[in-house]
Amino acid sequence: MSLYDRLFARVYDRSMAGSEEAGPTEKRVALLAAATGRVLELGAGTGLNVVHYPPAVRELVLTEPDEPMLRRLAPRVAASRPRASTICAPAEQLPFEAGSFDTVVSTLTPIWRRIGRGCHPNRATAAAIEAAGLELDDLQRGRFPQAPRFVEPLAMGAAVKPG
Ligand SMILES: C[S@@+](CC[C@H](N)C(=O)[O-])C[C@H]1O[C@@H](n2cnc3c(N)ncnc32)[C@H](O)[C@@H]1O
Repeated sequence: MSLYDRLFARVYDRSMAGSEEAGPTEKRVALLAAATGRVLELGAGTGLNVVHYPPAVRELVLTEPDEPMLRRLAPRVAASRPRASTICAPAEQLPFEAGSFDTVVSTLTPIWRRIGRGCHPNRATAAAIEAAGLELDDLQRGRFPQAPRFVEPLAMGAAVKPG
């Protein structure tokens, strides 16, 4: 674990605060309103989504591969959603059977690989989701407020299995 990893985790909430109040928190609430049943969140970070999950969520499992982020996620989960569980795992190596969740959530994960702790802001996220065989429902595009230009593009929606 590098000094950068620890620093990224330490400043994450503070660096997001201005942007969050200018709109993204509202988008988190709107997106998570559709979450239901057994829910898996990928790359949960420090847990900014945790307080916004609706009552229809029966079980919540939060995964995060980065230990410094996970150390900030765990107390937030314990304080606001004590029955949820946290797991240290990347999205590519999940310790679950396929099809064992009703909803999968991931927010703000496509951030630039080098500065964003392994994420890719320069990836065509919607195209990658469609290429994986999922359909995008209600895709909305926008800009992340008060953010550096290279992390501004925002895509929000639900990816569903066809049929
Ligand atoms: C910009 S933060 C977003 C955190 C949180 N989802 C949010 O909305 O505030 C990106 C997160 O993705 C995580 N991440 C990076 N690579 C990942 C991977 N391969 N699988 C799952 N999460 C990953 C990082 O550790 C980091 O916590």
